[in-house]
Amino acid sequence: MFNIGPYQIQRKTVLAPMAGVTDLPFRQLCREMGAGLVVSEMVAADPSTWSSRKSKLRIQFADEPAPRSVQIAGYDPQMMAEAARFNVQQGAEIIDINMGCPAKKVLKKAAGSALLQHPDLVRDILHAVVESVEVPVTLKIRTGWDRQNRNAVTIGKIAEDAGIAALAIHGRTRACRFVKEVEYDSIADVVSALSIPVIANGDITSPEKALTVLAAHRCCRRNDRPWGTGQSVDIPTDQSVSRDWRSGCQALHRGGAAGDV
Ligand SMILES: Cc1cc2nc3c(=O)[nH]c(=O)nc-3n(C[C@H](O)[C@H](O)[C@H](O)COP(=O)(O)O)c2cc1C
Repeated sequence: MFNIGPYQIQRKTVLAPMAGVTDLPFRQLCREMGAGLVVSEMVAADPSTWSSRKSKLRIQFADEPAPRSVQIAGYDPQMMAEAARFNVQQGAEIIDINMGCPAKKVLKKAAGSALLQHPDLVRDILHAVVESVEVPVTLKIRTGWDRQNRNAVTIGKIAEDAGIAALAIHGRTRACRFVKEVEYDSIADVVSALSIPVIANGDITSPEKALTVLAAHRCCRRNDRPWGTGQSVDIPTDQSVSRDWRSGCQALHRGGAAGDV
């Protein structure tokens, strides 16, 4: 269990945001299968995109339980603050900021992981967003721009000082994209340096791997908040996972929960 602002997250397994994947039906399935927190698909901070069909679908919650987390991406502090306010008005209960995406579409505008090269701009964006909404704001980053420029501890401290409620770290640099080995040691350095919850991301390919990463990070913490509270994790079998997944998909199709997503 850990807290993000007023929300007590009952399980330590968190679904990473994935554009084109983490739509409402997928989030519902993942919650049913044990995700303690799920995050919507990324929404651009540029208001000219908000009325598009794609953007509208990305902020559909139906009767999704709290907390509903929406990820925003952009480069301009005031635009990001406005996007945060807009998404809260639409029902977001947590705002997650994307500073991890390496996609050219995002990088072209110096958003996503490109921002890691500009700590002062990161600070301005985080302050602007945190001050613009009453809900907790979380941040997702990578370990740095490239292996010569790992700055996750610096960015993590900026985030904590700005009032970010939790930090997710994809344990690869931007240059490593999705392919190189995940640097759990770099994530551990951030865990040791901060007091806010830190979520380790990347290559968590099995329940056993999740437990190993959790245990390693618990050891590295300065204090025992919040990973330190030893929570048991049920490890599902392959058979139970495929059975649950199949019946979940069938239920979503029967109930029409997917709508026109
Ligand atoms: C199809 C796809 C879409 C993604 N979209 C986003 C996104 O919108 N925002 C984000 O922060 N990360 C995004 N990511 C990155 C993931 O959240 C995650 O950090 C990354 O895949 C590392 O985890 P893995 O090694 O388990 O794949 C995406 C990843 C994939 C594969």
